Amino acid sequence: MPHRLTRPLAVATAALTFLAAQPPAYDEPLRPQFHFTPARYFMNDPNGLVFYKGEYHLFYQHNPLGEQWGHMSWGHAVSPDLLHWRHLPVALHEADGVMIFSGSVVVDWHNTSGFCTATGADRSCLVAVYTGHGHGKQTQNLAYSNDRGRTWMKYAKNPVLDPGLKDFRDPKAFWHEPTRRWIMVTVLPDQHKVRLFASADLKAWTPLSDFGPAGATGGVWECPDLFQLPIEGEPGRTRWVLDVDINPGGIAGGSAGQYFIGTFDGTRFVADEPAERTRWADYGADFYASLSFSDIPATDGRRIWMGWTSNWLYTNDEPSVTWRGAQSIPRALTLRRGRDGLRLVQTPVAEIERLRTAPAPTVITGITVLPGSAEIQLDVKPGAWTEAGIRLSNDAGEDVIVGVTRVPLEVFVDRRRSRRTPFHGAYPGRHAGPLAWRDGRLTLRVLFDRSVIEVFAGDGETVITDRVFPTQPLDRLELLPVRGAQPEARLWTLASVWNRRD
Ligand code: FRU
Repeated sequence: MPHRLTRPLAVATAALTFLAAQPPAYDEPLRPQFHFTPARYFMNDPNGLVFYKGEYHLFYQHNPLGEQWGHMSWGHAVSPDLLHWRHLPVALHEADGVMIFSGSVVVDWHNTSGFCTATGADRSCLVAVYTGHGHGKQTQNLAYSNDRGRTWMKYAKNPVLDPGLKDFRDPKAFWHEPTRRWIMVTVLPDQHKVRLFASADLKAWTPLSDFGPAGATGGVWECPDLFQLPIEGEPGRTRWVLDVDINPGGIAGGSAGQYFIGTFDGTRFVADEPAERTRWADYGADFYASLSFSDIPATDGRRIWMGWTSNWLYTNDEPSVTWRGAQSIPRALTLRRGRDGLRLVQTPVAEIERLRTAPAPTVITGITVLPGSAEIQLDVKPGAWTEAGIRLSNDAGEDVIVGVTRVPLEVFVDRRRSRRTPFHGAYPGRHAGPLAWRDGRLTLRVLFDRSVIEVFAGDGETVITDRVFPTQPLDRLELLPVRGAQPEARLWTLASVWNRRD
């Protein structure tokens, strides 16, 4: 009965051939190396960002069954340093026709919820506050974990907030010490309103106030966040930031983040600027649904957020295979006063410097080899130039230009020629944001990671996040020629955060 022997052999040979043809894990062509991506399948918003017992937790909107949006559940990963992530099993699964939409996680330090089972000095546990989407409505729900986020129980009396609305989502909860209660920030997406609630125990919520419509209202409002930030150079002074995403109607088309600066007295957020004023968190096409971490210890003191580097216009068509979606680099936030009032400033977390493979950068003059993951710093001086910057390109004739223009004074990313055959009509584009001279210089800090480009201009005052999907790696870097003083350009290669044997 020879087939009994040959069949397993044939299967084994086929499996080996298949494996040999596969790129090593985490090394697929467009897979970023120092940005978080799901091991496989679809990811959108970051959810439940929290620091607890020495670990950063990243939950995320995830389809555990496919490469396009659907079956939304919370994927999960943990990291000691915001860069090296370890995948954990899906934390919250869709069930009974209810998908798990976006939300947040808090540390319930004093067991206000009654969910925490620990006894002794530390009685804390983790509580997730998320939107349940199903049966024609959206409601707010709880789940809790008593084992550092490894396993989760959905609250038996869910939902905790159910006004019977079709669209009512994305709860961000936080502890407000002055009023000693929990605050929940939600959106009424099609009314362009943020609605605040308060609770003593995370279970019973009372409405506090609404904010909006204001700023940009050309699409639905999603994924709000509310936090207090220090003002640079003004010790002891702070302001509150209300961040609300909008889709479509963003500055670069489709999805984008906007924010309002103002005051929050524990009940009501009041913006400093008139309602017509829009401030964009990011001028690129691919920074959405940003969320800040809860419970970063006061000894650290940072407010850090990350966002999803995609756009609802084309996310389901992105040409990455087996996995889809990446998170931005975590960014520390501050406020800075300028001629135009206060604005949000974003800086890649300092931990990223540990990924530099050599302490000293390479100084770029002409054309050089561009590694797949790199940081490039550009210092542009006044001169006779009209446009200055860098060009990232490949042998297929694809390129991306990152630079500044003089009139108007702007930073831009031009990805119009970054893929020979665009995978979606809305993908090609040039995205620009306003810039100002600082100490007689214009600075660009560019994080390049195969298919992610993040540009922090003016020391974090203007940010552009754009995905790029070249058909071959962008492996050549050159300085755009300028008349007069050449920009200074420095390059560091950044190491992969993935253990490719995983
Ligand atoms: C934002 C969003 C949220 C929603 C989630 C669903 O990208 O639309 O409003 O909770 O994605 O996946």
